Amino acid sequence: MISSFPLMRTASPVPDDQRAAILDAPGFGLHFTDHMAFADWTAEAGWHDRRVQALQPFSVHPGAAVLHYAQEIFEGLKAYRHADGSVWLFRPEINAQRFRRSAERMRLPQLPEQDFLASIEALVRADKPWVPVAAGERSLYLRPFMFAAEAFLGVRPSRRVVYSVIACPSQPYFAPGGVSLWVSTSYTRAAAGGTGAAKCGGNYAASLAAQAEAERHGCDQVLYLDGATEEACIEESGAMNLFLVTARGELVTPALGTILAGVTRDTVLTLASELGLTPVERAVPLAELRAGLADGTVTEVFAAGTAAVITPVTGIKAEGYAFTIGGGEPGKVTSALRELILNIQYGRVADTHGWLRHVV
Ligand SMILES: Cc1ncc(COP(=O)(O)O)c(C=O)c1O
Repeated sequence: MISSFPLMRTASPVPDDQRAAILDAPGFGLHFTDHMAFADWTAEAGWHDRRVQALQPFSVHPGAAVLHYAQEIFEGLKAYRHADGSVWLFRPEINAQRFRRSAERMRLPQLPEQDFLASIEALVRADKPWVPVAAGERSLYLRPFMFAAEAFLGVRPSRRVVYSVIACPSQPYFAPGGVSLWVSTSYTRAAAGGTGAAKCGGNYAASLAAQAEAERHGCDQVLYLDGATEEACIEESGAMNLFLVTARGELVTPALGTILAGVTRDTVLTLASELGLTPVERAVPLAELRAGLADGTVTEVFAAGTAAVITPVTGIKAEGYAFTIGGGEPGKVTSALRELILNIQYGRVADTHGWLRHVV
């Protein structure tokens, strides 16, 4: 097949035995494959120089705009190896569309959806041996990103931009047992009109202080509110959307606006009815979550994201109160959804929604 991202194969791939050892225990985001996808954009020439090449450092001018003004966006998705050895992507079109929305918000150029998909597919084909077998829910994590590469000091959109995709064999980000969340009233992640719905690096840099606060309180992750007050509504976690399961059989998640429109979130909302649940997208006041956990009307809480898959939230803690959820064990709905999504992604059940895209 002729790709718009032609392969210039590396002359020095990681030796087979070293790669096998990495695939046995990949961790998350620690080891990179042999190749990377690349494309250049200038205001004059548009997108050009598309290719897949050996993984190598960029040469970046110290004045590159991204280093000063953080004009940068990224995406995260996975390639899954099925039992017959074939490799598939899960809903990559949604990532392509979100990448375009993030680019628009950060005044970066639009990457056509077909380039986004072609770059990822070309990289996965080049690095097929790096896609782990399904055991242990391993996969190849793909990281498309775009940054302002023009050397200038001044706040305006860059006239040169680099797009690239790198890949890491990975296992799930969190242990399946679950995470505890710290309700931060010191830090918010986003406000109306801000960048919360864009997947831009600055959002994550700004989250590090809140994450440190959560860890100081013995929690794994942050639960962000839409305002740093007790009357606020819940938003999401650092890299995951949040869901509540109610005793009435509802699957409730905060409405879109200032949060990231997660691919997993949309998948969960779509699958809810197949599990006999009613999906509900609306504002969820923190007070309602507290009351629901106290009186048992909220039966389960879980987080959803590409890296996290479906991760049970087993505890929520804040200044002055703490809840253990489901006796600290993953709930039934959480476990069923996790299994269903993984089964679809790994081709163990029929893909009735047409979510899988065959790569190689
Ligand atoms: C802030 C934030 N929320 C939610 C998500 C979940 O999104 P997705 O399911 O597309 O991975 C992510 C991960 O990308 C994220 O960074």
